[in-house]
Amino acid sequence: MKKSTQKLWGGRFSAPTDELVEEFTASINFDKRLYAEDIAGSIAHATMLGRQKIIPATDVQPLIDGLEQIRNEIESGEFAFSIALEDIHMNIESRLGEIVGPEIAGRLHTGRSRNDQVALDFRLYIRRQLLNVEELVYDFIKVLVDKAETEIDVIMPGFTHLQQAQPVLFAHHLLAYVEMFKRDAERLGDCRKRLDYSPLGSGALAGSSFALDRESVARDLGFSGVTANSLDAVSDRDGVAEALFDFSLLMIHLTRFCEELVLWSSVQFNFITLSDSFCTGSSIMPQKKNPDVPELIRGKSGRVVGSLVNLLITLKSLPLAYNKDMQEDKEPFFDALDTVVGSLRIMAPMINEMRVNKEVMARQAGAGFSTATEIADYLVRKGLPFRSAHAVVGKAVAFCEAHNLIFTDLSISQWLEFSDLFAEDLFVLLSPIDAVDAKDLYGGTARIQVAEQIELARKYLDSVKV
Ligand code: ARG
Repeated sequence: MKKSTQKLWGGRFSAPTDELVEEFTASINFDKRLYAEDIAGSIAHATMLGRQKIIPATDVQPLIDGLEQIRNEIESGEFAFSIALEDIHMNIESRLGEIVGPEIAGRLHTGRSRNDQVALDFRLYIRRQLLNVEELVYDFIKVLVDKAETEIDVIMPGFTHLQQAQPVLFAHHLLAYVEMFKRDAERLGDCRKRLDYSPLGSGALAGSSFALDRESVARDLGFSGVTANSLDAVSDRDGVAEALFDFSLLMIHLTRFCEELVLWSSVQFNFITLSDSFCTGSSIMPQKKNPDVPELIRGKSGRVVGSLVNLLITLKSLPLAYNKDMQEDKEPFFDALDTVVGSLRIMAPMINEMRVNKEVMARQAGAGFSTATEIADYLVRKGLPFRSAHAVVGKAVAFCEAHNLIFTDLSISQWLEFSDLFAEDLFVLLSPIDAVDAKDLYGGTARIQVAEQIELARKYLDSVKV
């Protein structure tokens, strides 16, 4: 059995840690991502300890300088991370001892535990990353709005059950995603609000017997307040769970769009053409151009939803307060974060460069009797109850299908055989754009409404610009 070296917590131990245990319990390989937050937290804590005269005032500056030097060492790649030192907190503290000497470095952890320390670091980290993801979402929304504006004239078939339903503006379809991603960004903002309380001062679980000034530390670190219960504060990972849910739903929204991109770029649909730089070829079939990026985003959504489930199961049935299980909170978060960031970063330019095959969409918008509802509504306006109107138009559809015709092939005398309410004014309703413009109420697909929604989306983006 291989044994390791002396630990910072090794006072009561007579036998060194087995190397297998060391490797199994270490988190440094992933929690090193928290280094900046760990250092910021330690600087705020040390400053407060000095101010409160809990440690000698003369120790504060050396501690800060030492911590800043460590930050530089990590950022320049010089820092030697050690598995034997378990996690980011002890890697930093141990190096601090080398720089400022064990006596001064040994005072930093006064009135603090790794339990409130890691709770703090992770909160700070998640808050910062959520803000970054929100910005990426807004960047992506802007691409969607820009596309909606440049393609405002494009009509496409709208679908239900993936069957042609009623014509809609392509811009209206894009703006549906704008609404989803707006909600996603706002959810991330809500999550940040609940992370806005500093857990420092909760100690291992019970609080601290030192006269810590929790509020000033919270303020220095940009929190709006402090947590109210020490047991809860060191064992609460709700913010991680919420963030993972928010990421999951965001990914699910992306997969719905990606699924459409995959369908639309097929020869069968041919609604859009993805830029060559966002597709790949086949090693055997020379003609192939595969929509790998949307497919992969669709595929990667599983990791994000999996991360949410992973974390929830980690937390399930955990007794208060801190348990080592909770160290398993970080990898799912990091993986989900990287997936979401990567997906958003690639979606924006892909949509920006996507070509819209306007004629194909317009032709399809008119196919499949997509204006049938318009004709039924026409009969309703002439006094027929909607259900009867529905039946009349259904008969017209069946007649056209049997004779391989479309609505615009029928003459007025043919229409009159289905109902004597039909008149010449019917013919201004039969084209898809008429059906689109007829949906002229708030939230509808009429050009005038969609133009207004584009305007509102731009105002929204101005108002949230982070
Ligand atoms: N690496 C640990 C984690 O991420 C830090 C907290 C350790 N606390 C403890 N009591 N062992 O959860």
